[in-house]
Amino acid sequence: MAGITEDPIAEQHEVHDLNPTLGVIHLIALGIGAIIGAGIFVITGHAAATYAGPGVVISFAIAGLGCLFAGLCYAEYASMIPVAGSAYTYTYATLGRFMAWFIGWNLVLEYLAAASTVANGWSGYFNDFMKYIGHPIPAAFASAPLCVATDIHCSTYSAGASALNAMMHIGQTGTIVNLPAVALIALVSAVLIVGVHLSANFNNLMVGIKLCIVVLVIAVGLPHVVAANHVPFIPANTGTWGQFGFSGVLRATGVIFFAYIGFDAVSVAAQEARNPKRDVPIGILGSLAICTVLYMLMSYVLTGLASYTTLNVAHPVSMAVEAIPETTWLAPFVNVGAIVGLASVVLVLLLGQSRIFYAMSKDGMIPPLFSEVHKRFRTPWKSTIITGIFAALLAGALPLDILGELVSIGTLLAFVIVCFGVMVLRIAKPRAIRPFQTPFVWFVAPAGIVMCGAMMAWLPIDTWLRLILWTVIGLVIFFVYGIWHAKAPRWHIKEHPAK
Ligand code: ALA
Repeated sequence: MAGITEDPIAEQHEVHDLNPTLGVIHLIALGIGAIIGAGIFVITGHAAATYAGPGVVISFAIAGLGCLFAGLCYAEYASMIPVAGSAYTYTYATLGRFMAWFIGWNLVLEYLAAASTVANGWSGYFNDFMKYIGHPIPAAFASAPLCVATDIHCSTYSAGASALNAMMHIGQTGTIVNLPAVALIALVSAVLIVGVHLSANFNNLMVGIKLCIVVLVIAVGLPHVVAANHVPFIPANTGTWGQFGFSGVLRATGVIFFAYIGFDAVSVAAQEARNPKRDVPIGILGSLAICTVLYMLMSYVLTGLASYTTLNVAHPVSMAVEAIPETTWLAPFVNVGAIVGLASVVLVLLLGQSRIFYAMSKDGMIPPLFSEVHKRFRTPWKSTIITGIFAALLAGALPLDILGELVSIGTLLAFVIVCFGVMVLRIAKPRAIRPFQTPFVWFVAPAGIVMCGAMMAWLPIDTWLRLILWTVIGLVIFFVYGIWHAKAPRWHIKEHPAK
């Protein structure tokens, strides 16, 4: 990344150690590395068991298409600003302070809550692994104390629930804290403070491990799929919108969208692509296509090995392979692969989060504390500690479904704004230098808005309430602090000279 940003700690803030001349293969590996995580390893089980049954396979196809449209817009946006950064930076330079805050605040939700979600997923596989080696974590410390009230495990919802809990439909499970998830966040935060340099080789290793496990489960599992488990492929609707039937498939689309989060990493690398015009769309299309195919096959196999009704557990992949004697041997490999793979996703997400806080703080949107750099380690240590504390609180207390759906809705909203912003800029700044141009933008951008907006609309109403609560908190911070302290944008769009 050297040479494209003036920030002194930019090097430590990079999500990946990118070569300035990235080729197609690098970009695809980068995308897959950022994409595969708790979405496929955990949320698929929840979505199948609660909303769509085996029809979750169709949900993956629909969500992949929506990501494609949003990704192509994101890439144009990313390529216009000569700095490696997030949609927050691009928006500040293009659509102004308020929209930048809005999108930045949603990205905080995306990264912070996603790190907690993946840590939560990691905990499920870690617990199963500990049980396997004969040292199970005590139940009181193995899972989240809060739950969705409609969940069958959620027994004490009505007794003593606060007004807010009642509104948000949050209940209690009787456990104390999800200790492994908290411990992972603490460990990763410590690593980030000391300063981690994610090398391309490390990323490739992680991608390799995750891919191997996914491919192994598909290859070994496919011949053992029990046909009866796929009948009916879309279970009948229960009478409530979103609970099975085709509406359930649509709702599951919004939920499993989480599994695709991270493909924007390819767009963010647009500046370093050797040939952005050609390589970035291929990178986005390639990583999305590969993940979509793998996700569809993997969800087909999981719902084929075990009945979808049994998959609402913390470790659905190892659960599913254990359902058939011929595939049981895969379980320890799945657990170890998920433990290693998911931990690396948490690292990437927390790193991204501290970078967003750093950029927002540099712009005066949040206090300078968030961009203070440690003298020796050269990392934004205070921001990392604060991020870690919030992420640990979320990961320790909330269940994966609440967290994952919240992340999905926040990210989808950010994508809607990005698709909109690309069209606005085509009109407002026609001479802007666009190393990458969204093909068929007047079709792709509206299609992105419609698809991402629809995925938001399909999510449960509780998730909307949580998003509104998050937005209100954000607006209060903006009007109490940001609006008074924000500085002029540090980055500007370069334009072709007027003819
Ligand atoms: N897409 C990433 C995952 O599924 C965030 O964990």
